Amino acid sequence: CASSAECVDRGGVVMNNVSAVGSDWERAMMESALTARDRVGVQDFVLLENHTSEVAFIENLRKRFKENLIYTYIGSVLVSVNPYKDLEIYTKQHMERYRGVNFYEVSPHIYAVSDNAYRSMRSEKRDQCILISGESGAGKTEASKKVLQYYAVTCPASEHVQTVKDRLLQSNPVLEAFGNAKTLRNDNSSRFGKYMDVQFDFKGAPVGGHILNYLLEKSRVVHQSHGERNFHIFYQLIEGAEDELLRRLGLERMAQQYQYLVKVRERELCVCVCVLQGSCPKVSSINDRSDWKVVRKALSVIGFSDDEVEELLSIIASVLHLGNVQYSGEDSGSSYITTDTQIKYIARLMSPLNQEQASSARDALSKAIYGRTFTWLVNKINTSLAFKDKFNSKNASVIGLLDIYGFEVFQNNSFEQFCINYCNEKLQQLFIELTLKSEQEEYEAEGITWEPVQYFNNKIICDLVEEKFKGIISILDEECLRPGDASDITFLVKLEDTVGGHAHFVTHKLADGKTRKVMGREEFRLLHYAGEVNYNVNGFLDKNNDLLFRNLKEVMCSSENRILTQCFSREELTDKKLPETTATQFKNSLAKLMEILMSKDPSYVRCIKPNDAKQAGRFEEVLVRHQVKYLGLMENLRVRRAGFAYRRRYEVFLQRYKSLCPDTWPSWDGRLVDGVSTLVKHLGYKPEEYKLGRTKIFIRFPKTLFATEEALEERKHSLATKLQASWKGYNQKTKYRKLRLSAVQVQAWWKGILARRRAQRRRQAVDTIRRFIKGFMFRHHPRCPENEYFLDYVRYTFLMKLHRALPKTVLDKSWPTPPPALTEASELLRKLCMQNLVWKYCKTISPEWKHQLEQKVVASEVFKDKKDNYPQSVPKLFVGTRLDGDDINPKVLQALGTEKMKYAVPVTKYDRKGFKARARQLLLTASSAIIVEEAKLKQRIDYSALKGVSVSSLSDGLFVLHVTCEDNKQKGDAVLQSDHVIETLTKVAICADKINNININQSSIKFTLGQGKEGIIDFTSGSELLVAKAKNGHLSVTAPRLNSR
Ligand SMILES: Nc1ncnc2c1ncn2[C@@H]1O[C@H](COP(=O)(O)OP(=O)(O)OP(=O)(O)O)[C@@H](O)[C@H]1O
Ligand SMILES: [Mg+2]
Repeated sequence: CASSAECVDRGGVVMNNVSAVGSDWERAMMESALTARDRVGVQDFVLLENHTSEVAFIENLRKRFKENLIYTYIGSVLVSVNPYKDLEIYTKQHMERYRGVNFYEVSPHIYAVSDNAYRSMRSEKRDQCILISGESGAGKTEASKKVLQYYAVTCPASEHVQTVKDRLLQSNPVLEAFGNAKTLRNDNSSRFGKYMDVQFDFKGAPVGGHILNYLLEKSRVVHQSHGERNFHIFYQLIEGAEDELLRRLGLERMAQQYQYLVKVRERELCVCVCVLQGSCPKVSSINDRSDWKVVRKALSVIGFSDDEVEELLSIIASVLHLGNVQYSGEDSGSSYITTDTQIKYIARLMSPLNQEQASSARDALSKAIYGRTFTWLVNKINTSLAFKDKFNSKNASVIGLLDIYGFEVFQNNSFEQFCINYCNEKLQQLFIELTLKSEQEEYEAEGITWEPVQYFNNKIICDLVEEKFKGIISILDEECLRPGDASDITFLVKLEDTVGGHAHFVTHKLADGKTRKVMGREEFRLLHYAGEVNYNVNGFLDKNNDLLFRNLKEVMCSSENRILTQCFSREELTDKKLPETTATQFKNSLAKLMEILMSKDPSYVRCIKPNDAKQAGRFEEVLVRHQVKYLGLMENLRVRRAGFAYRRRYEVFLQRYKSLCPDTWPSWDGRLVDGVSTLVKHLGYKPEEYKLGRTKIFIRFPKTLFATEEALEERKHSLATKLQASWKGYNQKTKYRKLRLSAVQVQAWWKGILARRRAQRRRQAVDTIRRFIKGFMFRHHPRCPENEYFLDYVRYTFLMKLHRALPKTVLDKSWPTPPPALTEASELLRKLCMQNLVWKYCKTISPEWKHQLEQKVVASEVFKDKKDNYPQSVPKLFVGTRLDGDDINPKVLQALGTEKMKYAVPVTKYDRKGFKARARQLLLTASSAIIVEEAKLKQRIDYSALKGVSVSSLSDGLFVLHVTCEDNKQKGDAVLQSDHVIETLTKVAICADKINNININQSSIKFTLGQGKEGIIDFTSGSELLVAKAKNGHLSVTAPRLNSR
């Protein structure tokens, strides 16, 4: 909380800080605010218990004013008291606080009114206006600037809109420079009335503006009261302009040099001649030099070119020069100009006039020039502010801002005050029409029975001034226009004749004795709604006529200054019609203004000035009471309170308080009125405390509403907790739902993938099966589309099967059966595979083993499937020799000499005659086989003499070495038996190279006994081996059968 005052304000009765829920700090703040509330009164006068008491009213204002709470409501009317000091309540944060917030939820502020008007314009699509009234110095212009600033800051903006905003804001310093002046009451007093339309587009952005100006106080150009000044621009120019510019304009940097800046009204001169220089060019509160810079910049922002600025300023300068044109009286009564450097033509023009006439003609010219230039300036600003988008201009909504001079009463009141006060009467009339009357009409419309409140309707005064033919303005115009000797006095007499009987009109002649004492003979008095004012009729006719000599106009028309040629048009010269008088013009423009205002929804700001000394913190009750009276605030309050202190539309009331009743919380479905009725019954409202209208509830006593507000405050805490809980719950639920949804989505997605995969597999399977069946049906056809798959498949499976079942060793003869189409390939593969296996096998084989195998191969070639005991010999390895050196007699070895022995084996030799068995050794050398008996070489058979070898097909070990008969040395064929017959014969076959000469006989072998004789060996199979000489002389061999065939 920035200041205690703010705390208090924000904790006020009607206002509720919605965000102030929950924390202890905030509760403490609320409580302190509640007690503080009593100290600083009420934020809305309708909540004042003693609402009929003016004292209580002013006391409430005073209390709040002392706490720097300058704003207070009367219902929707804002009462503002000028603080005469800068309060920290116009910051951007403040603007944000009021933006879009309900009127009653924040403390009273000009921003709340601005925002309310803006939101009504946006939501109800109705034009709005904010009427700011109050007497001079009460803060109207400041308030209107605050409103503009609020819109400039808070409304949406684009680049284009920014320029418009800037121009809207910058139009103020320019208009103030040319139209404001220091007066006794206000250092920055607006000397013209101003109504400004701010146009908003459909998005709510300010897009244009238009200004209407009313009745500039032109007389100020030529003279001012003592202690007052001319319009600011004169001093700003002289103080602030660069030397070069001043030189071009022929000005000096000294305000005292210029008659118009130092001259005071003649009447005052009489009293105080010594203060001829008494006007005050320099005022401590005004910095003309810095203001000049502001104005100069503002002119550029608004779109003035440098040339235009120069022309504008040269007009201001020429007015100053004109003021310095002096006349001196001559006997002839005509005048001449004493300052020879001044403009020569003026002399010629003025020459037929006497001194007084010449001066007044000069002043009339100055006023006309200044007045018209001011109007031109307003038009120029309007052009710059104009909403360029013609197409959309119809859709633009408008907020009007009226900052017009307040009710004025001076010691001496003239035509200007008459006009100004008339204007205020009109505004009061409008106020009555729109608020007091409408308040009462509201009760009627809502069907609420009530006693009408009496209020003063000032229509009677308006009529007195403006009525056709009978009104004061009509009479004044008549006097101005009628031929003959019309004067201000004849006007007064005419007034007495015509409106003399009016209750609100008095003159010296008509008044009673008491009044006469305070009235001059040249005065008439009007009993305004705001008080009595005496008007001195002197100058009324002249001011109303506002005439300018035709030849002066002509001169102006021929000026080279482009602004002046726009201000003085040639048509005016030729126009025969009499121009409208000032009062009539004013009356008409006011009538138009009323029309404009009537077409809009008004908001009121009633400004009050707390003291005449422009001092901060000073609250003069008398002065304030006077303003409260003439602003009609008490009446306003009375009517507002007469029936019911408070009213709210049902929906708004229900929306705000529905949480206080279980039936209406959280929502009410039935009719609004029933909802409100249920609610207030639950709250314990007594029947006399409220009434239900057609659309609104009316609450009679403020305390009823306070109680409800406080209950709401309490309730907010528990609501906040509930809200928090449900919000958290909602949050979690949303999170959970999101998670679940995601999970389901992932699942669905994954299931989809799986299902699609399965379906695809099934489809493929079906395809495959179909193709397979078809292929099977066509399998015997030549390759064609129908069977190619099948055939490939069969091939493929065969090859795959083969791949898995390839023989691992050379001996493994297994081989899968190929499909017919692959028979040839299978065979090739098989060979290849075998070759490969063999090749691999061979690569790993040792020379000894190779030798072994070579022998085995020979054995196989010779004996396989031919001799019964061959299979038994296969697994047994052949040995190098069965007899080594030790087993053989050394003599034998000696006899062999160098002949190398390749193989030796013990054998049984059967005699050729008796077949006697004798143990012998068979030695094989490179060239012969030798049969050895002990140390004797019994028989040497050269391989060349070896015809062949015979052996039986049985399992016996007998064999016969056949030798050639021619060889005498030989003793015939040798019949031998070896236990290793396969090995022995293989060795013989290899050594003697007789592989093809080994004969295998089935049943008998013939052999030679030498000298041509023959022996026979018979073989039979039996149970055991038996070798014996048979009776027939043959050698009979019985051999057991080892292998079945
Ligand atoms: N809200 C405010 N905060 C601070 N000072 C203010 C405020 N309102 C007015 N003032 C002071 O009061 C002076 C007079 O205010 P302002 O010019 O707005 O009066 P006015 O009602 O427009 O008078 P007039 O009718 O003479 O134009 C201002 O120059 C300013 O110093
Ligand atoms: Mg003003």
